[in-house]
Amino acid sequence: MTCSDKGYTRINILSTCSRSVETAKHKRIFISKRTSELVALMAISSTLFLFLHTRDLHTRLRSLQSVTNSASTSGDSTAMENDIDNFIQHDQKLEAYSLNNTGHAKKELIFFNRVPKVGSQTFMEILRLLSLRNQFVFYQDHVQRVETIRLAETEQLRVASMVSKYDTPSVFIKHISFVNFTKFYLPEPIYINLVRDPVERVISWYYYIRAPWYYVERKHAFPDTPLPDPNWLKKDFETCVLRGDRECRYTQGEKREGISDHRRQTMFFCGHDEECT
Ligand SMILES: *[C@@H]1O[C@H](CO)[C@@H](O)[C@H](O)[C@H]1NC(C)=O
Ligand SMILES: *[C@@H]1O[C@H](CO)[C@@H](O)[C@H](O)[C@H]1NC(C)=O
Repeated sequence: MTCSDKGYTRINILSTCSRSVETAKHKRIFISKRTSELVALMAISSTLFLFLHTRDLHTRLRSLQSVTNSASTSGDSTAMENDIDNFIQHDQKLEAYSLNNTGHAKKELIFFNRVPKVGSQTFMEILRLLSLRNQFVFYQDHVQRVETIRLAETEQLRVASMVSKYDTPSVFIKHISFVNFTKFYLPEPIYINLVRDPVERVISWYYYIRAPWYYVERKHAFPDTPLPDPNWLKKDFETCVLRGDRECRYTQGEKREGISDHRRQTMFFCGHDEECT
């Protein structure tokens, strides 16, 4: 006889089962029976838990509904009403449809405004190979001495106009913060990007700028690049952080270096406004 055979309510079954577990102990009934009873007991406990949880959720839903009702009936609860509106609006933005950039884009161009040190070079290579295979045009910004990811408004307009003249379908790749094409009355492309664990990313950048091949590449592109101090090249990240060296102090809210040392990935998604830095 298992507990689930009985048509009792949940609570009754539970007490019956506890009792039968007790009896089973005394009478030394077979292991298999004990096991099945144990399973039944676990199943009932979970049912009970779910029942209580559902009731709790129901209560919370009720209270939320009454809050909504009182907010819409009484005029002085406008703040709460706004909160709820914001919540609903925020929730709507999280729908797959509204988050799908492709559907909202006005131009068949993928703008990969790549965040540095997230594997973007590899991804760029994949895009290049795909462009040959799937016949779309591959546009890439030329290597710059200093990558300026935050531009003045006129420069943003220059980039946006340039991109808007490109053939489609195509992909354009550049290290740059999000540029709002709509603001310049230009067709919005399909933005894509990658992100990486922020700490891993900072460590990656630290060693990247110390790698010998990085200097070979830099020297090739810009022959007058000075060679760095060998002690600086040999310094490991742990030493730099523990010693509190200037370049390894990650002070929250610090803006001066934020752009050039690739500490923030959010700028690539936020844009060029002051509040994005
Ligand atoms: C996103 O939009 C494009 C174009 O409208 C569509 O082809 C694609 O299936 C959509 N993707 C998802 C996941 O909805
Ligand atoms: C882009 O600019 C337009 C026009 O100024 C504005 O309505 C829109 O919200 C902006 N989009 C983003 C993502 O900032």
